[in-house]
Amino acid sequence: MELVVEGNCYVSGRFERCCVGIEDGRIAQVAKVLDGDRVMRFGSKLVLPGAIDSHVHFREPGMTRKEDFGTGSLAALHGGVTCVLEMPNTTPPTTTLSALREKKKLASSKSIVDFGLFAGLRPGVDVPGLAKEAVGFKLYMASTTGELLIPDLDDVRVEIAAVARSGRVLAVHAEDESLRRKEVERDLEGHLRNRPNECEANAVRKIKNAAKECRLHICHVSAKSSLQLITNDKGVTSEVTPHHLLLDTAGKLGTLGKVNPPLRRRDDRQALFQALKNGTFDIIASDHAPHTMDEKQEDFDYAPSGMPGVETLVPLMLQLVRDRHLAIGDAMRRLCERPGEIFGLNKGRIAVGFDADLMVVDLMEGSLIKADRLHSKCGWSAYDDMPGIFPKAVLLRGQMMIEDGHQVGERAGRDARGPA
Ligand code: NCD
Ligand code: ZN
Ligand code: ZN
Ligand code: ZN
Repeated sequence: MELVVEGNCYVSGRFERCCVGIEDGRIAQVAKVLDGDRVMRFGSKLVLPGAIDSHVHFREPGMTRKEDFGTGSLAALHGGVTCVLEMPNTTPPTTTLSALREKKKLASSKSIVDFGLFAGLRPGVDVPGLAKEAVGFKLYMASTTGELLIPDLDDVRVEIAAVARSGRVLAVHAEDESLRRKEVERDLEGHLRNRPNECEANAVRKIKNAAKECRLHICHVSAKSSLQLITNDKGVTSEVTPHHLLLDTAGKLGTLGKVNPPLRRRDDRQALFQALKNGTFDIIASDHAPHTMDEKQEDFDYAPSGMPGVETLVPLMLQLVRDRHLAIGDAMRRLCERPGEIFGLNKGRIAVGFDADLMVVDLMEGSLIKADRLHSKCGWSAYDDMPGIFPKAVLLRGQMMIEDGHQVGERAGRDARGPA
């Protein structure tokens, strides 16, 4: 074996002191004892699959003052995320094959982790062409950052049918533009008033009706009233973010907490948490949406929506595990296995044939999240000074990338997309 990683490994839903044998960047064998040209021993530390963050905005091309593939992916890596799925609301938006290829070129040369790229859905897009190279399609039902708003689903009926035929996932920002209010906003409560719970629930209802044949994925579910619409339905997958689980309008975040869909009240947040424990959500993803501090210092009403989170996704969830609010298997399913399965990636599990993307974690060694030590270009975090558990080591396709919390490997991120 080229490389053997030994530790307390998460294999088939449980922990086992064993060895992961790696050849050509893939897991070749998992066994109690293995010989290797190189052996890395992590003792009783946890060896977990690298996480897949299926919802990030890396802002390249066009908004690289906020982030780019270099900084965004470095943040991902430090947080144990070895693969990111990147959203199409860039400038230009990723709605044509040439824009998709251009973005892929940029990502391939700059990303330090593997990636998949979403294509934006709007009238007239070449769905079969995009489906060959995109990891999935993204539909924005309400206005948010970017110009991909589709308020009326009738306008993309043909395109939705084509996505269904392509076999790709249709990921949806579900807020109903017609139920969005446009009052002046002065604080998080004001933002919430403009985007009430029913705004989300109604959008979920509408898209479920309009995309019955699709593999539908509801992004960043935030409202209690949406939950029954996703739990009842086996054909629909869903995602929740750390900020909707951990933050609410009672916090003092100001514009830093301004996101779409909005942070809600405490009882929504608690309902999401309960739903997470009950198995409702398939995926926990960050919706990493960096904006500069200058932009966030504008008046509340003008400040853009979105917060960074790719680097704190895994640390925050592992902290919940450590504090016994979440079972580690529930975290691993949502951070690794399910995103891998849903988007058809050869990642997310420690099993023969999968990419050797691993993170090494010691649940007993927590630290405080410090915004100025994170790697996103935006330089701030809503979780400053909150406890988190960062990985000690991260491997990408068998290559050591983070050692003792510091970057060691070369940039070699590539498109992780598998066949539909
Ligand atoms: C996202 C962004 O800034 O790109 N903003 C946000 O508040 N979540 C867009 C989005 O996911 O809606
Ligand atoms: Zn969104
Ligand atoms: Zn988003
Ligand atoms: Zn560093």
